[in-house]
Amino acid sequence: MLVLGIETTCDETAAAVVERQSDGSGKILSNVVRSQIAEHARFGGVVPEIAARAHVDLLDGIVDSAMKEAGVGYAQLSAVAAAAGPGLIGGVIVGLTTAKAIAMVHDTPLIAVNHLEAHALTPRLTCALAFPYCLFLASGGHTQIVAVVGVGQYVRLGTTVDDAMGEAFDKVAKMLSLPYPGGPQVERAAEGGDAKRFTFPRPMLGRPDANFSLSGLKTAVRNEASRLTPLEPQDISDLCASFQAAVLDSTADRLSVGLKLFQEQFGTPRALVAAGGVAANHAIRSALQDVAAKAQTTLIIPPPALCTDNGAMIAWAGAERMALGLTDTMEAPPRARWLLDANAKAPAGHANSRAGH
Ligand code: KG4
Ligand code: ZN
Repeated sequence: MLVLGIETTCDETAAAVVERQSDGSGKILSNVVRSQIAEHARFGGVVPEIAARAHVDLLDGIVDSAMKEAGVGYAQLSAVAAAAGPGLIGGVIVGLTTAKAIAMVHDTPLIAVNHLEAHALTPRLTCALAFPYCLFLASGGHTQIVAVVGVGQYVRLGTTVDDAMGEAFDKVAKMLSLPYPGGPQVERAAEGGDAKRFTFPRPMLGRPDANFSLSGLKTAVRNEASRLTPLEPQDISDLCASFQAAVLDSTADRLSVGLKLFQEQFGTPRALVAAGGVAANHAIRSALQDVAAKAQTTLIIPPPALCTDNGAMIAWAGAERMALGLTDTMEAPPRARWLLDANAKAPAGHANSRAGH
């Protein structure tokens, strides 16, 4: 089974061709990603209108490259999959409409993939992981703990009630005048910093649910930064280190609760899987390692190129759905918000600028 996957929900324009063998294993034939970071950097964040226009400009060429690199003709495709949400609606429309056009012209089935489902299923592509497992997804738009029970069977165990984790890193970087995207900058600055100089709040610590909250912590960093202004380089390092230490403590606490909830409902997970840009953070990785060990499970982090947004994960989710006969019609809507767990309710007071969590 050969599936073309298209990803345009945020600031990566991506397309890939993935093959799914009859034994259920997967192989990436091409995976072309064009990041728009340069287009957005001077605004200190992703500008939806600029992202949508860039997707329009780039997508045709990227799909073409993905098909050529894979050495596959359109007639050979078993399906074309696009991320139909959640995400920035302009970009989602560009990707989904392109997929519909390809599906229509080549008389190929269409699969409208939930972007979060694609992150959730990635370890089945990279290491044929069996169900059930626990996913921790932390990116610029999402912060979730999800029980991945089967294809289409997801139970959200926890989510952020305000900012996404990557968003908090980006906002802290911005208030300290570090460049965008802020996560790697904050991590680097934290290396030379004193994590004990400031005692920032550990939001939600000890709560019985597995939700996250990051905006209070971000505000505490802002207050401290304005109190210290003008900031010396050492102040910036100490603020970053103290902020990151608070994120680590709260992540470890929230995930251990998430894994406990998982255990109660589904037994021991086959693995704890981390995905999203924040999973690139070394301090967070080692905190996750400890949490997984305590829960007597293994930590799996897909390679960076498959942890962050890409077309291969969309193609793979499409292939997994296609194998179960789950295709979509031309009426499939683009969705700014799209809960992975259809039965889940968004936590009260939850609003995020980027996507439907
Ligand atoms: O998954 P991703 O590449 O894109 C989406 O958000 O969809 O995640 C990007 C996010 C940004 O907020 C970025 O600051 C954060 O991941 N990030 C990090 C690190 N690298 C990227 N956050 C903390 N530490 C890092 N090393
Ligand atoms: Zn993503």
